[in-house]
Amino acid sequence: MHAVAITGTGVFTPEQSITNDELVAAFNAHVDRWNADHHAAIAAGEVAAMEPSSTEFIVKASGIERRYVMDRAGVLDPDRMFPKLTARPDEAPSIMAEMAVDAARKALARAGREPGAVEAVFCAASNHERAYPAIAVEIQALLGTSGFAFDMNVACSSATFGIQTAADMIRAGSIRSALVVSPEICSAHLEWRDRDCHFIFGDVATAVLLERDEGLDAPRFKVRSTRLATQFSNNIRNNDGFLRRTHDQMQDRRDMQFMQNGRKVFKEVLPLVSTHIAGHMAEEGVTAEDLRRIWLHQANKTMNDFIGRKVLGRDPAPGEQPNILQDYANTSSAGSIIAFSQHSDDLAPGDLGLICSFGAGYSVGSVIVERA
Ligand code: COA
Repeated sequence: MHAVAITGTGVFTPEQSITNDELVAAFNAHVDRWNADHHAAIAAGEVAAMEPSSTEFIVKASGIERRYVMDRAGVLDPDRMFPKLTARPDEAPSIMAEMAVDAARKALARAGREPGAVEAVFCAASNHERAYPAIAVEIQALLGTSGFAFDMNVACSSATFGIQTAADMIRAGSIRSALVVSPEICSAHLEWRDRDCHFIFGDVATAVLLERDEGLDAPRFKVRSTRLATQFSNNIRNNDGFLRRTHDQMQDRRDMQFMQNGRKVFKEVLPLVSTHIAGHMAEEGVTAEDLRRIWLHQANKTMNDFIGRKVLGRDPAPGEQPNILQDYANTSSAGSIIAFSQHSDDLAPGDLGLICSFGAGYSVGSVIVERA
């Protein structure tokens, strides 16, 4: 068995962003228009009036202050409330591939590696722009990596599941290096007209370069161990699968976009994640005192504070469990990797850290890393 290390990470951050105030202003303008258009039905008690959103609620319920998006104008147009992302001709690179290539080039530059040395690309994300050919194969061609590539989807846990997939292949010796890229265009599967979730998501792409840890001396993170788990639940679901085009009114079907029972998710996922991490640490003989940092999935600040307390047995000190969701919102599988990429350089050789993602499935993935 070969040792594995994460030698580089990269983040593509879209140029456009939306503050909570801007989002709420657009949402509330949409509410006013919708209520005016439906006033007779509302007055007759046939439909309920839409309720306005508020910045205070968003910050209190989630900790999110703004989000990056691929298209601001479409989302903030009260008559549209959906990004304008036009389908590209087959000859042009797909949007996800472009985002992933940017993040991958940053990861390669950080590791000082050429694309040709990479033997596999896994595009691990919650939604894919098309069914096939795999986005990962397109990324392979755009980057000029060798070997093979394929797409994976384990919702918000896609990146950690991708890391274990890559690490296991490197351990077994079938490949020497791999890129796990997670381009997440969450804005395209969010229902921006639903007050309960319109503030949740943002767009981003991350890349993680993993290599066989032999003869390496540059700063890196050894992958000590990985652990994955899944348990079926309908509480986070998106039905926009391959059958969608057989439905006449696909545009009107709320279940064709992200849906969640947020409160149930909150209640059910917390014990699942805490138990998963505790089991993984016990198996590896890692105690709370050994952990210098925890990079968690970025969906909700209260949730992360709770998990941090559970894992460490005390309130995390500032910086011990970095959050990036105030700036990026929930970016699905990319969240824990953004936190890892932006808040890990200062660790000293021998320091241990834990990356953990969780989300739809339910799914949870954890990676214990050691600074070298
Ligand atoms: N603005 C103002 N008020 C709002 C609102 C908004 N945008 N959205 C909901 N509210 C209201 C609700 O109507 C409710 O009012 P009520 O108490 O009179 O019924 C109240 O605020 C509380 O709503 P609730 O949905 O229970 O809030 P919450 O504190 O549970 O927070 C989530 C909602 C979604 C942020 C939270 O449950 C969560 O983060 N869950 C986990 C989500 C997760 O991890 N998902 C994974 C996705 S990948």
